[in-house]
Amino acid sequence: MTGTAVREAIEVKKAGGALPDELVAAVVAGYTAGAVPHEQMAALLMAVLLRGMDDGETLALARAMADSGPRYAFADCADKHSTGGVGDKVTLAALPIVAACGVPVAKLAGRGLGVTGGTIDKLEAIPGLSVALDGARMRRQVDAVGLVIAEAGDLAPADKAIYALRDATGTVDSLPLIAGSVLAKKAATGAGTVLYDVKAGKGALTTGVDGARELSALLLRLSAAMGIRAAALVTGMDAPLGRAVGNALEVRESVAYLRGEPADPELDEVVRAVGVAVLELTGVDEPEKAFERALASGAAHGRLAAMVRSQGGDEAALDDLAVAAHAGDVAAPRDGWVARLDARAIGHAAIALGAGREHRGDAVDPGAGIELLARVGDEVAAGTPVARLFGIRGAERAAVLVAGALALSGEPVARPARILERPAPAPARP
Ligand code: URA
Repeated sequence: MTGTAVREAIEVKKAGGALPDELVAAVVAGYTAGAVPHEQMAALLMAVLLRGMDDGETLALARAMADSGPRYAFADCADKHSTGGVGDKVTLAALPIVAACGVPVAKLAGRGLGVTGGTIDKLEAIPGLSVALDGARMRRQVDAVGLVIAEAGDLAPADKAIYALRDATGTVDSLPLIAGSVLAKKAATGAGTVLYDVKAGKGALTTGVDGARELSALLLRLSAAMGIRAAALVTGMDAPLGRAVGNALEVRESVAYLRGEPADPELDEVVRAVGVAVLELTGVDEPEKAFERALASGAAHGRLAAMVRSQGGDEAALDDLAVAAHAGDVAAPRDGWVARLDARAIGHAAIALGAGREHRGDAVDPGAGIELLARVGDEVAAGTPVARLFGIRGAERAAVLVAGALALSGEPVARPARILERPAPAPARP
């Protein structure tokens, strides 16, 4: 049956037809069980990338992938999902604020992929912290602390297997495949409320705003069909977000944010937009004021510390997480204003230093990364450092990549806005 199902699915999609739900379910179950060979699945994924899928097919894919593992029930909790970026530590900064406003938060997160960082790698920079929590353990922590972030683990194993194949076959950048993958994880989590932070720019899966807008609309339609209360923001990812790129460095920047220390204005803009949007979605009164109170009172910082403690992490280490050895600085080659800091190139530089993986399964150095000393719009003088590199390997290559990522202008450059669009919510399904 499975061999016939996948052949039939390939023919249907090759001809531009729509895949029936049962066929999608049979192929996904067959691939997860090892009965559908990689080459047939790869052919089907390429046909999907070229021919597309309608909402019904995409929903069937999401549901079939969610059904490939256990299902959790966190309908009472809020979550946020970023499509991935460089220096994106918004989860670590915004979710403790949401939790401190009384909204329970349960998030299943992933590891870095390509140039995009992952929240699980960042959390593992905190000594002792465990991200391997099952559903029952997550529920106990939500009830006690109001905030839990754990690794997706055995949830939606079909998504994990298909994602790895997409990564190897050039089929990642298909909007229905991205949306199906994201929704599979939300369905498996049993998420009740989700804010999608859809990135657009050089360091994102969707480089243009049009693609990000289309992906947002698709995520919102599918969420409504699944009964998930959702909203979306399209946020810029041409340059890394904030000053830190790398796991321990990003946790440090998030902790400093939660301590109310002066923050990078672009990071602040996105954390506020995401946090307030989650509070609006969950019906918190005067969400901007609630956000401000949770941050200024120290309650949000306390919530992160409580989460770290509950997951076995060293709370005292949060204030001074170890970073790797200083491996040199990259200086401005001449006077000017920073016009570009290419997120993709800086992401590759961070990987060269050991902050991310060249290949799946590579070890990550939690202390490696880059501190950006100048941001787009800043005026710099020749010879002043614009980036500081940390890591024990790849420093020369990283320095070349960072130097190539930097473009200076002879004219003043405006700081770019990060919130690019606020897509309208999809109408709720009756
Ligand atoms: N994030 C996901 O979870 N899946 C994708 O396919 C792309 C980004």
